[in-house]
Amino acid sequence: MLCVSVKEFLSWKKKQLSKGGDQQSFEFLLDCIGDISTRDLNLKILNPKGNLYLKKNLEFLESVWEEHLLSSCPIQYLCGKTYWRDLKLKVTNKVLIPRPETELIVDIVFNVFRSKSEKLIFAELGTGSGAISIALALAYPFSEGVATDIDQDALEIATKNYINSSKQSNLKFYCGNWWSPLESFKGKLDLAISNPPYIPRDTYEKLPKEVKNFEPKVALLGGEDGLQHFREIIQKAPSFLKDNGWLILENHFDQSEKVKQLLMENKFTSIEIVKDLSGIGRFTIGRYK
Ligand SMILES: C[S@@+](CC[C@H](N)C(=O)[O-])C[C@H]1O[C@@H](n2cnc3c(N)ncnc32)[C@H](O)[C@@H]1O
Repeated sequence: MLCVSVKEFLSWKKKQLSKGGDQQSFEFLLDCIGDISTRDLNLKILNPKGNLYLKKNLEFLESVWEEHLLSSCPIQYLCGKTYWRDLKLKVTNKVLIPRPETELIVDIVFNVFRSKSEKLIFAELGTGSGAISIALALAYPFSEGVATDIDQDALEIATKNYINSSKQSNLKFYCGNWWSPLESFKGKLDLAISNPPYIPRDTYEKLPKEVKNFEPKVALLGGEDGLQHFREIIQKAPSFLKDNGWLILENHFDQSEKVKQLLMENKFTSIEIVKDLSGIGRFTIGRYK
């Protein structure tokens, strides 16, 4: 650990933030690479005559901050980590950075399956960093989870994240197109979840550069109208779900009614649109028969 006086640190911090960027990303950098949490930092700086301890020196932290500002690369990729619910996850540019709004999908599952001792069989399609599946596998220790992705590199990261987060062995990863690696689970799933790529092509072209230039296209683009993957996932879901099994989907801010329609056309019942914390219909859920 490197010792730096609070006085020196505060003047360095002011200089860095004057170059641009947001406070939250800066605090993330200090936490991930400097190994000092915002809470600890706030306590330390109460004493301007004291010292604080960092894992890396100020020059190194400054170089990462400047790279972030110059390239617009998300700070999570530069640090190689992110926080999601109570998980600390490895992320590289092979996986989407799991979003805070997606955290709610786990709470939706908690509302549907209230007992944590349920022996659920669940599948997540398009797991990316593994965030959702890992959270569920940890929360329901008697469950059996399977998580798929089309991208083998993403699955390697998801597998590492699972090993780092859990001593359990109730989650397995498979590579392939949506349902195709799950043939042996036909008719067996209590629950399937997906946050598929859902950005329509014209919106994708206009995404901010910190997203478009860095996050994987395969994780974002949902075909011309954004609904291409929902069609495939919803049409095939009935043969994989048990009777009354649930399908829980995350969608773009304006897609809920269309996803609901697709669920109705495919004979799902108990269909509900669930709002995120900003009041946006972000999730569409239903059960098969
Ligand atoms: C929006 S990201 C979601 C990642 C993660 N579940 C999350 O919520 O943060 C969509 C994921 O679907 C995967 N994917 C894209 N097309 C796929 C396909 N045809 N079959 C399986 N997975 C696919 C991508 O590689 C990506 O990891």
